[in-house]
Formats: sequence, structure tokens, C-alpha cells
Amino acid sequence: MNPVCDVADNYDQYFASQLYDQRYPRPNPSSFAIVAREIQEGRVRVLDFGCGNGRYAAPLLEQTNAMIVACDISREAIDELSVRCAKHVDTGRLRPVCGDLSVLTNTMGRGERFDLAILMFGVLGHIFSRALRQKTLAVIRGLLRPGGRIIVTVPNAARRFLKQQVVARRWVQEGNFEPGDILYERKADHVVVKMYYHLYNPEEFMLEFEQQGFRLIQVGAESFLPESGVVRSTTLHWLDRALAIIAPLRYAHGFLAVAEVAPDADQVARAPQIADPGLPG
Ligand SMILES: C[S@@+](CC[C@H](N)C(=O)[O-])C[C@H]1O[C@@H](n2cnc3c(N)ncnc32)[C@H](O)[C@@H]1O
Repeated sequence: MNPVCDVADNYDQYFASQLYDQRYPRPNPSSFAIVAREIQEGRVRVLDFGCGNGRYAAPLLEQTNAMIVACDISREAIDELSVRCAKHVDTGRLRPVCGDLSVLTNTMGRGERFDLAILMFGVLGHIFSRALRQKTLAVIRGLLRPGGRIIVTVPNAARRFLKQQVVARRWVQEGNFEPGDILYERKADHVVVKMYYHLYNPEEFMLEFEQQGFRLIQVGAESFLPESGVVRSTTLHWLDRALAIIAPLRYAHGFLAVAEVAPDADQVARAPQIADPGLPG
């Protein structure tokens, strides 16, 4: 378990309060289009790791021919997803798994592999310690078929939780936190829950993939405006897309990467396409 907060319990409360659905009632349209494109290109066996209550899985099941294994550490999230997508559970297109990566790997059949894994909206950042995040990526790489792909979005340290980063500096100096780690609070059902988050810079984000045997295909912005606005307002979504054309990636609210299992995991990844004039590469 995460030593600084109980992520499963916190997200149980967050989902049960319905605050999550109010803030994020649908997927980010741009990120969703990227995931749907990968599925339409034939990557139909999908792992949605940290699926929540199905913000991506539910519309993907309706709009594509994906077969989805949806895994989340929050029991409340998995229960909500199972009710919401009951017909797909019945037909076998959706397999919900409650637990972490070790639970997931124990439910997998021998030789079962995914074409695509998605970790949408900061899932990786909730995993405590760089070593565990790297292990998570390495284990997921092992669950993908050769040539399989992964799509990950993470929060940008330059834009998110600036006050909390100042507070966390002391914990970093004391050796309890790593640079980029923070604690933040969310109010759910009048209860304040404390969340751990790791915030990224673009260089660190790209390095995570390269070091874990992935070849980066695409790195861009998840959004420039806050996710809660982009997913609730069509106007803000289009404004956000306009910003994506002109604004440097370092100002993004979050980053999105698409990467592919490298033919040889030890091979040095080739330079990714970076849709950003402000970044080296
Ligand atoms: C910000 S939510 C994103 C949910 C969903 N992907 C979405 O876009 O709405 C982060 C999710 O990651 C899950 N999570 C965090 N750590 C996890 C872990 N170690 N294993 C599985 N799920 C985890 C949380 O329970 C939560 O549902």
C-alpha cells in the first residue's frame, strides 16, 4: 500500500460522493480520439489500468469493438463500472478487476496479452515512488504483445499544485519524498481526503518510457486548460485545441504519450515526435 495515504480508500470516497462524476462527466475528447484511433487500427484487446468508474471504458465499449480488461484499486469504482456496463460484462467484452497490478497479473490467462494499455488522467502519478512507477510500466510492457502500445497521461509539475509543491520541498529535503511528489486534498461528501501525486516534467516523463523498453511514438498535451473545464464545455474544448497548436508543451496542464513496446527492450529508443517548438528533441 502507498505509505503516505490509502489510495483505494480515498478514491472509494471520491467516487461514492459523485464529486468525480460532477467534475469529469466524460472523457477528454482529444485523448479519447487518440485511444479510439489505436483501437480502430486493430489494437482491440485493451487494458484500462486505473480505469476508475469507466469514464473511458464505457464509451469505448459503445463506440469501438474493444475487448477491455478494466482494473482499479478502488472497489467503489469497479462496482460502479460493473453496474454501468453490465451488458458488456455479460457478453464478456468487459472484465472488471478490483486490485493493483499484482491482482491483475494473477487473473491473466497463460499467454494472454494486450494490444493496448491505457493509464488515463494521472493514474501513474498516484503510484508512490519512482521505482514502483517504473516497475508498473515494466510489468505492463510484459503484458503487451510485441508491437503493443501504451497511452499514458500525467500532470505537469509546471502547472499543477504549485502551493503543494512548496510545502513538499521540506519532505523532499528530509528524504521522505522524491522531487515532484506532493500531497493534496479533495473534499468528498464533507470528508477531506488526502491524495498523493507525482507531478512530471516532460523530460522525466519521456525517460520513464525509454528506460522501461518502450519506443515513444507521440508526446503532446493532454490539455492546456484544466481537465474539468475541457470535459464539461465544448467551447473550452475547442479553445484548448487552438492552444495545442500554438502553445509550448511545457505550459500544458497534463502530458499525453503514446509508446510502443520496443523490438528489443534494451534498445535505445529513437527520438519521439514532439509537437512542441519549446522542447529539445
Ligand atoms: C484520476 S483517477 C483516473 C480514473 C480514470 N482513468 C479516468 O480517467 O477517469 C485515478 C485512478 O487510478 C486508480 N489507481 C491509483 N493507484 C492505483 C493502483 N496502484 N492500481 C490500480 N488503480 C489505481 C484510482 O483508484 C483512480 O480510480
